[in-house]
Amino acid sequence: MPGKVISIANMKGGVGKTTITVGLAHAFAGENAAAKAMRILVIDLDAQANASFWFCGDQKLTELIESGRTMDAFLEDAVVLNQKRSLSDYAHVLARASARGDLAVIPCSPELRLIEREMTYFLSERRASLKEVENVVAELLVSELGALKEKYDLIIFDTAPGISALTEAALRASDVVIVPTVPDFISNLGLEAFCRSVWWANHSGSELQRTPWVAANMVKDTKHHAAMLAEMRAESQAEDAGFKMFRIEIPCSEEIEEAGARVREAEGAAAAAFDPGASLLFAAFAKEIADIINVPAPLTEPR
Ligand SMILES: Nc1ncnc2c1ncn2[C@@H]1O[C@H](COP(=O)(O)OP(=O)(O)O)[C@@H](O)[C@H]1O
Ligand SMILES: [Mg+2]
Repeated sequence: MPGKVISIANMKGGVGKTTITVGLAHAFAGENAAAKAMRILVIDLDAQANASFWFCGDQKLTELIESGRTMDAFLEDAVVLNQKRSLSDYAHVLARASARGDLAVIPCSPELRLIEREMTYFLSERRASLKEVENVVAELLVSELGALKEKYDLIIFDTAPGISALTEAALRASDVVIVPTVPDFISNLGLEAFCRSVWWANHSGSELQRTPWVAANMVKDTKHHAAMLAEMRAESQAEDAGFKMFRIEIPCSEEIEEAGARVREAEGAAAAAFDPGASLLFAAFAKEIADIINVPAPLTEPR
């Protein structure tokens, strides 16, 4: 069966997109009831390269950037230089840590921002409208994903805040779009507009592809968070709801924050490991997703 694609996206930065990308990648690569060794690919679409750094470490990432093995290098090669390239050749396989499955990443570098602009200029010089530029990127991604889905069981896009041509292309190619959100009033202001833009990006897709799934993250034991969560849940269950909500509520936890802080020292694969408690939490989250997109669900009990 071809692999499934998920995107982690939100208009806002700092809501946990990268943390959740890493947590889910590890959870899906872990043990599952079907005893299937899952092949997971993370594709970093954020020029801040946080996920790339988290998975590869500073040294390896620098090496990959220097040898042109990044998402931005692929886009430059394939679109601007018009060379025949296969995105799957840009994947970097990570050393197996405790996971049973295989984890790979297509990293990006801060150059991604420049390449995106360069692509737009390059294509618009050829009288392509902005819409056509978006279509070129989207078609390229979809055709590359065709090959990647044969090699991987699950592909996870970590996206940049906002909506770029690249993010939009990823949303369009996804089986499900996950929107991490902090349940406070300010964070929620842009949520509805963002969910609408997901809906529009995928308007020709299935109901599942069109409807973003909100995941509450950094949840605190406060009255304000509880009230916002209740409001959001009610909204997600309304008849004309623009989004659905996962049952899980990821707490604001020191363990999760610490995992991010450890990345600097740990240089690469092992860096991404969360402590057992956080790992079980991400496994429970991954199970909800697995049931939606029909892939093997990670075990949610410690052995
Ligand atoms: N559930 C959580 N509990 C505590 N800290 C978190 C949690 N989720 C994310 N963080 C922290 O919040 C910051 C932003 O998270 P990040 O995943 O980089 O967000 P984004 O990718 O949306 O910009 C990081 O320092 C991360 O460690
Ligand atoms: Mg990020």
